[in-house]
Amino acid sequence: MSSTPAWLDSAVFYEIYPQSFNDTNGDGIGDLPGVIEKLDYIRELGCTAIWLNPCFASPFLDAGYDVSDYCMIAPRYGTNEDAKRLFAEAHRRGLHVLLDLVPGHTSWEHPWFKESMKASRNEFTDRYVWTDSVWEEPTGYNNLRGISERNGTAAVNFFTHQPALNYGYYKPEKPWQQAMDAPGPLATREAMKDVMRFWLSMGCDGFRVDMAASLVKNDPGHKGTIALWQDVRAFLDREFPEAAMVSEWSQPVESLAGGFHMDFLLPWATTHYVDLFRTDAPFFGGHGDASQFVASYREAYDPTDGKGLICIPSGNHDIDRIARQLDTEALRLSFAFLMSMPGAPFVYYGDEIGMRYVENLPSVEGGYQRTGSRSPMQWDGSANAGFSTADPEKLYIPQDPAADRPTVEAQMRDEASLWHEVKKLIAIRMAHPALQSKPPVRFLCDGKPGQPLVYMRETEGERVLVMLNPCDGPGVVAPAHPMDEIFYACGEGAGQLNGQWIIAPGSAAFVKLHEAD
Ligand code: NOJ
Repeated sequence: MSSTPAWLDSAVFYEIYPQSFNDTNGDGIGDLPGVIEKLDYIRELGCTAIWLNPCFASPFLDAGYDVSDYCMIAPRYGTNEDAKRLFAEAHRRGLHVLLDLVPGHTSWEHPWFKESMKASRNEFTDRYVWTDSVWEEPTGYNNLRGISERNGTAAVNFFTHQPALNYGYYKPEKPWQQAMDAPGPLATREAMKDVMRFWLSMGCDGFRVDMAASLVKNDPGHKGTIALWQDVRAFLDREFPEAAMVSEWSQPVESLAGGFHMDFLLPWATTHYVDLFRTDAPFFGGHGDASQFVASYREAYDPTDGKGLICIPSGNHDIDRIARQLDTEALRLSFAFLMSMPGAPFVYYGDEIGMRYVENLPSVEGGYQRTGSRSPMQWDGSANAGFSTADPEKLYIPQDPAADRPTVEAQMRDEASLWHEVKKLIAIRMAHPALQSKPPVRFLCDGKPGQPLVYMRETEGERVLVMLNPCDGPGVVAPAHPMDEIFYACGEGAGQLNGQWIIAPGSAAFVKLHEAD
């Protein structure tokens, strides 16, 4: 189960939040024809794959993570035919497309849930986690009660309107807790496989899986959930061996054992991801500390190397924009890091131009503080930054009001822009196999306060030294050979002194190390 589809070896993903990307029908909300229109843009940047946030029928109380029909594109985005065309047009350009699978819960408006609320037994009675009395709550979960003729309480997976689908309990302890292999939980699992089959047969290339660790209840160490995903992986290997799966789990030792090809490194405490870009003193801001990140990364990386990929995103729809804490110079170094680490990098739409977190926005579609990271894409200097022809008041989220808000058009015109730096870094990654998904990483300096972050990437025939120094002083990092060759630098770059590589303050450099004869 350890192999990954070959296309992941060099994949660079672009995350598209469809409601905020490109509106082609002037209703103030992005749509699938809008995504199709921008495929050439994504190619031009150099990305090779897309993760599309949920685009299925939904009441949009949680931006589409509250699905009411898994097999229907939300009318505001277009039709299933548009999705089919998106896959075909993407493939024509060598791009792969992952959809967002939300297997842990549905909207409370999903017909399955409505059926399961009925007192009389039916096909969907066991589709969700229900207790057997309205007076009993499911321990450890929020719940919905007093809403149905059924005498029971439904467990909730996230927001109150997202009832938990029933994949069973690892250790059932109460009569209403069903075992993982009971008919109800098995039917839920098969229903989710059918959803995957539906989209994969239509041409999608895999899934980002929402809250992948949440499926089996009362499951310490996620043993049951891992077994469930192994079964899903076996199904994929049989029917869709090229399909790729990336989990929202952020514990690669578990998720990759479950058969995921990739897991995200997310801003949860133990990963120290936030130390890099998002604390009050982030490492890439020049006055932080990357060493706990390195220690925790190694703890996840060392036992999983060769089993799958740990993917580091520039950001996503749930977290603050990377530009909220970092200026453009710091963003360049951040992208030099993202494009030289193992795993497939993910670029959140707009991060390639340093789109800002829009402060003080009212919550839209259950975004709350996340709304500021979800504002519509800024394409050019025209009305609504080229996102939509709607009246500005009709945009479903207001845009960054700043007069100097970054746009794709302006940055494409300026060779010195962040956009060109990101494009250059992606091209460099593509040209140097040692920098791609699988070759190992070895840390030489772990970015303690005042020190650079330095690591080696190595594959057959190529050893690359990566030096990243956001600090105020120079860093002495590693022995140098006169024939070592710098092939990427930003800031003042690096130089050799007394047989050592020295990286200048506020600089990054990638060096191809001379192979001793
Ligand atoms: C994680 C998603 O990324 C987030 O946006 C959503 O609100 C929750 N899961 C619930 O599905």
